[in-house]
Amino acid sequence: MTKILAFAGSTRDGSFNNAIVKVAAEGAKEAGADVTVINLADYQMPIFNEDEEAEFGIPEKALAFKELLMEHDGFLIASPEYNSSYPALLKNAIDWASRMSEGEKPLQAFKGKVAGIMAASAGGLGGLRVLVVLRMLLENIGVIVSPNQKAIAKVNTLLDDSGSVSDEKTIKQLKNLGKETAELVRKLS
Ligand code: FNR
Repeated sequence: MTKILAFAGSTRDGSFNNAIVKVAAEGAKEAGADVTVINLADYQMPIFNEDEEAEFGIPEKALAFKELLMEHDGFLIASPEYNSSYPALLKNAIDWASRMSEGEKPLQAFKGKVAGIMAASAGGLGGLRVLVVLRMLLENIGVIVSPNQKAIAKVNTLLDDSGSVSDEKTIKQLKNLGKETAELVRKLS
């Protein structure tokens, strides 16, 4: 069965991006994929430093995150937009996971995998600019990024009191992104 890992580049309580990635994950599940949703708050790792890597190796949480990526065929990634780009949290996790351990191929956690990407913001562009640079980053490390993507603008108006996405049109769009990502993984594997 197609295995998809879903996560957001935010550890904020009430993160909009955690809310949207969960909906996309539902869409992938409905399309028959085996989807695991994680919160990067459970994988807090130090800022990457080559000296520390040489001395101590990959930290436990970074290794756990990388192993999860390795076990999955595709990813659903929701990223906040920080100053038109991705947050350090997300880049740092990807940087650690990009490092090669003994017996692995280069970029084994990423190469040939498929990703569906999305962003959410209270602003009018919905984080559209982060998707441009996130796509480039992922493609440069060998990930096939789905042509479909979603930037959810004014996301704060599309949630219920518990912080879940409640707007029907948005739910449909996000589920569709999850479904298409699952189908692309299936087609390419
Ligand atoms: C932001 N935010 C923001 N929003 C946006 O639409 N474009 C931007 O360039 C930025 N830049 C930015 C920089 C920094 C340092 C912060 C902390 C925030 C607002 C951001 O989208 C908002 O905090 C989201 O709620 C973050 O996503 P989560 O945590 O809700 O998933």
